[in-house]
Amino acid sequence: MKENKKDWILPDLKSAQKRTNNDIPIERLVFDLPETVRDMGKQRKYYLRTYGCQANERDGETIAGILQAMGYTLAMTPEEADFILLNTCAVRKNAEDRVFGEIGHLKHLKITNPDLILGVCGCMPQEEEVVDTILKTYPHVDLVFGTHNIHRLPQLLYQVSMSRERTIEVFSKEGEVIENLPVQRFGKHKAWVNIMYGCDKFCTYCIVPYTRGKERSRLPEDILAEISELKDRGFKEITLLGQNVNAYGKDLKDELNFAKLLAFAAQTGIDRIRFTTSHPWDFTDEMIDVIASFKNIMPFIHLPVQSGNSDILKIMGRRYTIEEYKSLFVKLKERIKDCAFSTDIIVGFPNETQEQFQQTLDIVDFCQFDNAFTFIYSPREGTPAAKMVDNVPKDVKKKRLALLNSKVSEYALKNNQAYIGKTVEVLVDGPSKKNPMIFSGYTQTQKLVNFKADHAESGQMVDVKITDCKTWFLIGEKV
Ligand code: SAH
Ligand code: SF4
Ligand code: F3S
Repeated sequence: MKENKKDWILPDLKSAQKRTNNDIPIERLVFDLPETVRDMGKQRKYYLRTYGCQANERDGETIAGILQAMGYTLAMTPEEADFILLNTCAVRKNAEDRVFGEIGHLKHLKITNPDLILGVCGCMPQEEEVVDTILKTYPHVDLVFGTHNIHRLPQLLYQVSMSRERTIEVFSKEGEVIENLPVQRFGKHKAWVNIMYGCDKFCTYCIVPYTRGKERSRLPEDILAEISELKDRGFKEITLLGQNVNAYGKDLKDELNFAKLLAFAAQTGIDRIRFTTSHPWDFTDEMIDVIASFKNIMPFIHLPVQSGNSDILKIMGRRYTIEEYKSLFVKLKERIKDCAFSTDIIVGFPNETQEQFQQTLDIVDFCQFDNAFTFIYSPREGTPAAKMVDNVPKDVKKKRLALLNSKVSEYALKNNQAYIGKTVEVLVDGPSKKNPMIFSGYTQTQKLVNFKADHAESGQMVDVKITDCKTWFLIGEKV
């Protein structure tokens, strides 16, 4: 590949950190591909691997939609692909290491197929040092673009394949709301629906506000039209997505907030509605009322606590104390019948003491979460926490994580045991690969169920009697 450096647009941390009060443009793209680009993918195959959170999964569906509009078809393995794209996550170093490992691993495919194009997109390219590393160490990466450049994929891909020029385009900006991009949904009865993009919370450890831009809401009419269309196509479950859904609507002119949007979404009549992520800060009573009053809003809340110690929460910039978290949790549990809860927890934040960590174990005892995603703190360049001196040794952090995980598993098992003997509604995903008499699906409370049945259709709601359980799933029989 040639290198035409003057055409590159590289990431810029300063611009990514900036927030203004400027209005957020809503771009309604007429996604009409020029003839040249439209046929580019004919006879060509793409392979897409997505890492990270649901926002990235949903972006992957847009990328797939664009590529299919260009005539590309899906390759089952990287070996048979003409275009390989890694849609990456930057949230922790180990997520990035995996991607760099994969980039290295894919290099040999360029020898057998010199026309192969290898691309990296998603959150990692939004970081200056990642793009530096790719430029210096991975010359076989042909295309790099960021989270704000997805709609530019046809042009970028055309440039790489026609001019054989290494192409880098990463906008660092607050971003806009882009409507009307094509989408290839990966699920048949469950779908992600973006309600907003970006994050303005700036938790001190977190890179997401820099990789995803400013908090910006889609218009309610666009969201509701999408939900209704999904319902008409037979989708049973939607998950409303935002880094912090509680902030929905704050940037819009109308008197609109997340509670109202959630109620409108429920009124479409779609069977199941979920949402993620709701921040414990700003979780309003109005939201709780709406969740409690609509049967099709699922009784499952992901409520990241991050730490059980108020001083650590303060340094993390989380905007709540552990007492406030607890009282919110108690209120939710009282008002939303049979609600299940999951959380995110970081151990080994800079200078976390043994006592502070003990308080994290205590909050797990208090809330008895159904599930928890637990992480060792990972310094992210450009974030305030990355500048803090840290006196906690790595092996101490690892021990804390192991202790925490065993406590989390204990409660997961205990909560599952309480289901034994009950009959629950399950949305069927499909039969097990190993045994056609065993099916799997999820309860309203987002518990995985493996159950026996003579027959069950993917996308069907069935009643399942729970007979047994393991830590991470329930076992039952269709009634
Ligand atoms: N917007 C979501 C979270 C997105 S990131 C929210 O606020 O809940 C998902 C989780 O990754 C976070 O909740 C946090 O627990 C974890 N995380 C984020 N940055 C991290 C870091 N630097 N080190 C370790 N874990 C991190
Ligand atoms: Fe990151 Fe905090 Fe925003 Fe979540 S709310 S994405 S943890 S900055
Ligand atoms: Fe990762 Fe980006 Fe999501 S950093 S967690 S893929 S927003």
